[in-house]
Amino acid sequence: FRLPASEAVVNRMGFNNAGAAALAARLAALPRPLGVPLGISLGKSKVTPLDEAVEDYLASYRALRGHGDYFAVNVSSPNTPGLRSLQDRAHLDALLGALVGEKPVLVKIAPDLTEAAIAELLEVCLARGAAGVIATNTTLSRDGLAGVDVERGAQAGGLSGRPLTGRARDVVAVVHRETGGRRPSIGVGGVLDPDDAARMFDAGAALVQLYTGFIYRGPALVRAAVRATAGSAPPSTAPDPVAGR
Ligand SMILES: Cc1cc2nc3c(=O)[nH]c(=O)nc-3n(C[C@H](O)[C@H](O)[C@H](O)COP(=O)(O)O)c2cc1C
Repeated sequence: FRLPASEAVVNRMGFNNAGAAALAARLAALPRPLGVPLGISLGKSKVTPLDEAVEDYLASYRALRGHGDYFAVNVSSPNTPGLRSLQDRAHLDALLGALVGEKPVLVKIAPDLTEAAIAELLEVCLARGAAGVIATNTTLSRDGLAGVDVERGAQAGGLSGRPLTGRARDVVAVVHRETGGRRPSIGVGGVLDPDDAARMFDAGAALVQLYTGFIYRGPALVRAAVRATAGSAPPSTAPDPVAGR
C-alpha cells in the first residue's frame, strides 16, 4: 500500500513465493559466473510452528546453499507471526548454530529492537560466527506519517521508506559501534536519494540496499547513489564475506 505523500509503503506480503526448490531450479538455470555476489534471503514458512523453525530454515538453506554467495537470515519480518521472536538469544543461538558454516550468513534485524536487544543479538552473532548484520527490516512504528497517510497507514503490515530513514541509520550506527567494525553491516531502510546512501555509509554500513526507493525514484537511483558514494564504504577489519566466491 503506497503512502506517496510520505514516500512510504506498508506491506504485509509475508513470504508468498514458490518455495526453495523452485528458487533453486531457477538459479541453477542462470549462466555463471553472475558477475555480482548473490544473496539469498531465508525465512520460515508461516505454517511452520516456532519450535520447528530451525529445521525449516535449514531445509531452505540446504536446497539453496549451492546457489548463493551469502545468506540473509530474516528474523525480522513483521508479516510472519512469531518470526521476530527468533531474534531472542536462545532462538537465534540455535538458528545460527544450525546455519553458520559453509556460506556467509548475515542476520537481518528489525528497527524496533531496543539498544539492549541489539547488543544481545550481536553477542550471539559474534559468538556463532555470523558474517554480518542487515539493518533494517520494515517497522511496526507509524511515526513519520502525516495527513491522510496517518489513517491509510494504520493498517497491519511493516512500514518502509522515508519514515524509516533515521531509525535504520541509527540501528546501523549502533551495530557498528557495538561490533567495533568487526563485522560488516548492510544498511537498508528509507534510502531514497544519494545523500541517504552516503549517510548510511557514514553510519558505518559496508553496503547499502534499497527497496522502497525503487518504487518512488526508479532504478536510476542506484546509479546516482553509486556515483555519489563511490569509495564511501568504511574499511572493515573483517574479511570480505563473499570475496573470492
Ligand atoms: C513489498 C515489500 C516486500 C518485502 N519483503 C521482504 C522479504 O521478503 N524479506 C525481507 O527480509 N524484507 C522484505 N522487505 C523489507 C525490505 O527488504 C527492507 O528491509 C525494508 O523495506 C526497508 O527498506 P526500504 O525503506 O528501502 O524499503 C520487503 C519490503 C517491501 C516494501
